[in-house]
Amino acid sequence: MYSEKVMDHFQNPRNVGEIENASGVGTVGNAKCGDIMRMFLDIDENGVIKEAKFKTFGCGAAVATSSMATELVKGKTIQEALQITNKAVMEALDGLPPVKVHCSLLAEEAIHAALWDYAEKNNIKIEGLQKPKSDISEGDEEEEY
Ligand code: FES
Repeated sequence: MYSEKVMDHFQNPRNVGEIENASGVGTVGNAKCGDIMRMFLDIDENGVIKEAKFKTFGCGAAVATSSMATELVKGKTIQEALQITNKAVMEALDGLPPVKVHCSLLAEEAIHAALWDYAEKNNIKIEGLQKPKSDISEGDEEEEY
């Protein structure tokens, strides 16, 4: 059912934890399944993401996608990080079963929420970034089952 990469990132998640005084912290949940993901980003003065960590209280796919998402954003600029969609995270994991696609949306939205927090803290506007939802189940039309 799950790819080897999903199982690997679920059993050995990368970048679990918190970043103290993170540049940006984003928390998103899905009220339907009750899962919550929190993403911490450390962004340097050039707008490059130096460090990413996460805490996820959720299903295996949510853990695996947050693990992969932190791996993907590290070393990226803010604009590059914005391009990381849930599809990109899923592709990096060699796919997810259709009923688990919505879990990857948490990862995409958690990145956006952390970037939004960073922008607010620094009083800047990030081009192309819209205010993230704290509950992704509100936007059901975006979910693909
Ligand atoms: Fe809720 Fe996976 S079942 S995030």
